[in-house]
This record gives sequence, structure tokens and C-alpha cells, in this order.
Amino acid sequence: MNTVFLGTLAHLLDNPFQHPGALEIIDRGALLVGPDGRIIAVGAKDKICPGLSASTTIVDYGEAWLLPGLIDAHLHYPQYYAVAAANRGLLSWLEQTVFPEESALARVDYASRLADELVRRLLGAGVTTAVVFGSQFAQATKSLFAAAKQYGMRLFAGVTLMDHGGPEPLLTNPETAWQVCEALYGFCCNENNLHYLLTPRFALSCSPALLEMCGEFMRHHPEVYLQTHINENREEIDAVAKAFPEAEHYLDVYDQHGLLGPRTLLVHDIHPQGAELRRMAESGCSVCHCPSSNLFLGSGLFPLRRHIQHGIPIAVGTDIGAGLHFSVWNELPEVYKIQRLQGVNLNAAQLLYLVTLGAARLLGIEAETGNFEPGTMADFWVLDLEDDLYLKHRLAHCESAEARLFTLMHLARHHCRAVYIQGKRCKSRHL
Ligand code: GUN
Ligand code: ZN
Repeated sequence: MNTVFLGTLAHLLDNPFQHPGALEIIDRGALLVGPDGRIIAVGAKDKICPGLSASTTIVDYGEAWLLPGLIDAHLHYPQYYAVAAANRGLLSWLEQTVFPEESALARVDYASRLADELVRRLLGAGVTTAVVFGSQFAQATKSLFAAAKQYGMRLFAGVTLMDHGGPEPLLTNPETAWQVCEALYGFCCNENNLHYLLTPRFALSCSPALLEMCGEFMRHHPEVYLQTHINENREEIDAVAKAFPEAEHYLDVYDQHGLLGPRTLLVHDIHPQGAELRRMAESGCSVCHCPSSNLFLGSGLFPLRRHIQHGIPIAVGTDIGAGLHFSVWNELPEVYKIQRLQGVNLNAAQLLYLVTLGAARLLGIEAETGNFEPGTMADFWVLDLEDDLYLKHRLAHCESAEARLFTLMHLARHHCRAVYIQGKRCKSRHL
């Protein structure tokens, strides 16, 4: 049986950084979804509804907005309870806050409770796809995959790999790492919405042998994804230059081990050299910007314009626990402000693209999720203003639908009423 969802629809038809008319907002819109969870049609309610059969279920969200499921392109599962700790910058924060917290996931019951809480919290905020640094403990990362599977979330995740520069229980070696990654990779291959992600932490916690293992794994399994950190903090960059004196720059450390390609997502890249941007573009890498994390750790201001000029695809992540929000939607005002500080003006279409279609495209899942294109899965969330009189009145002062969307991005923070993945409502008792 088909279902039609009614509300104000907003989504991207294309990349608004290249196509200014790419944003479509449909007041009194309708989204028709088939029993397989795929979108059959999208458009004005007055056009779609008269042709529907009597058996079609109608779900009317009135004045609420229906937005494509959000994609959080970077966060750390074992840092769920490390959010909002006072810090003095990346490297000391890792030592003092992160490593102790990540060590706690050796306890299987704790790790599995955390996985359940994290997945429910992300879904409850409208995040239907997440790219996640898992735990160093394979059992804990398995419980993350299990939670995502239970609730139906799309997940890219892997065991966080490090073989030095941290407490002993968090460390692995290349042989063990290969076996663990191989087992979890095999598990993901049989699951529609789960993808294995190689996650060497960063150059400072990976030996050349461990990076080499990752490169070898990518050559062995061309469908695997890889995510790592780069150019986040000046102190970190100096330390990498010292640890890898033969590397031309930070990116070169990863390049020398064969880690670059279209399935590689580099996180932060706040202080890139021109040569690094050129090489990223040439090799097809993408970059994930984590605004609240960058501000909270005092890491710097992301040079978005330089990345766009080089044609590097960009997504946005919460970077929990350095980031302060569980919804990547709440990162959008930070994205906007960081660019304003650099004289760059982003519009609502560009902001929405970064956390929906743009991220789906760089992950290669745009045939499944990212917008309301017929044929894709109905992944969406419902932004409801019912209880917010101020916001309702504020929107009445906006001159266009796009202006309303921009205002919503800045003021609607806890307004997610329902979440759907593949046309099915994520049960509210879970959220
Ligand atoms: N660089 C290496 N590890 C981390 C981490 O856990 N968080 C952030 N923000 N940067 C990192
Ligand atoms: Zn991170």
C-alpha cells in the first residue's frame, strides 16, 4: 500500500554551489511513498492527491516541514560522554579527556548501552545516516553496528585504529587490525545499510606499518571507505612534520601509504597547503568540516571557499565529543558564522546541501538517500513548529520560502517530531 505524507517540503535537486536554482521548496507539498519505502512522486498536494487510489494512507503533518534525513559525516561513538569538557586544545584534550573515556568501552555492557543511546539520540535529531569512528574494542564496535541495524540507521563505521600515542589498552598492531577489519567488513557486506569504514585515527597515532595495512586493505577491498583526521591544529601539524620528516606535507603521509581516493573522507583540514588541496582534488578525496568542534577546541576557521575552488566535495560532521551538538542540523549556524568571519556568505540551499544531498553524493549513496528524488528511499524528518509560537510568528516576517528555511536553520533546535527511514517511522518509543 502507498502512503502520502503532507507538509512543506524542502530539498536539493542539485549542487547549489554550482546551480543557484537547485533548492526546491514546496508549500503544501506531498511525498508519495511505495510499500518498498521508495519515493514514487513529489510535488504540490493539489497535483498529487487527486490521482491517488482510495487505499493510499494519508499522513498529514499540516504546517510542519519535511526535510531529507540528515547525514552526520563525522563523529566518535566512544566519546558520547566526553562532550563539553573544558580543554586546552586538541592534543592535551585527547590525553586528558578522550583516551580515558574511550578506554571505558572495554566494558561490553557499558559499550552496548552507549551504542543504543547514541543511535537513538542521532535518529531522534533527524540524523538517518552517520559516519562514525567506532571503538578500539571490536566488541564495542559490533554493538554499534547492532544498534544501527536494530533501529534501521544507515551507518558507516569501523574500529578506531591506533598503535601508539595512547594508553596500551587502546592500541593494536597491523596483523590484529587486519583480522578485526576483515571480520567486520565481511559482516557489513551482508547488510544493506551498514558500510565498513577504515578509521586510522590520525598520523600521530599510526605507525607506517599500520597505515600500510590500511592501504593494503583498500587495494584488497575497493568498496571500503576510509576516514581519518588531517590539518586540524597547528601543534598537531608541527608534530606530524617531525614524525614524518620525509613527507612533503601532512596529506603526503596518507598518500605515501595509498590511502587517498574517492572513498576517502578527510576530517577538518583547517590549515591546508595549496599543494594538499590540489592533491585531494586530483585523487578524488572529500573533506568533512566540523564547525562546533573547531570552535570548541580553538582549532581554527575552515577555509570552505578554497575547498570549493578546488572542487573538493564537502560534508559536515558534529565530531562528537569535540562538537557540542547531536544533530548536524544544529551545526549549520556554526558553518554559517565561520564563513561570515571570513567574508563568505552561505545561503540556505548551500547549508542544506552540506548535510543532505552533498554528503550523500560524496558517500556515493545518492541513489538511496539525500533528497526527495523519485526512486530514492523515503528518509526524512519532520520539523514541527507547533509548540513554538515565537518561531511561527518570526517565519511570518520572512519574505520568501528560502528565507524561512534559513531562519529555521538558526532557530529550530529541538523541533524534530518524527523520523522516517525507507518510508517507515522510527518508533517514537525508541527515540
Ligand atoms: N584527531 C585525532 N583524534 C581526534 C579526535 O578524537 N577528535 C578530534 N577532533 N581530532 C582528532
Ligand atoms: Zn574526529
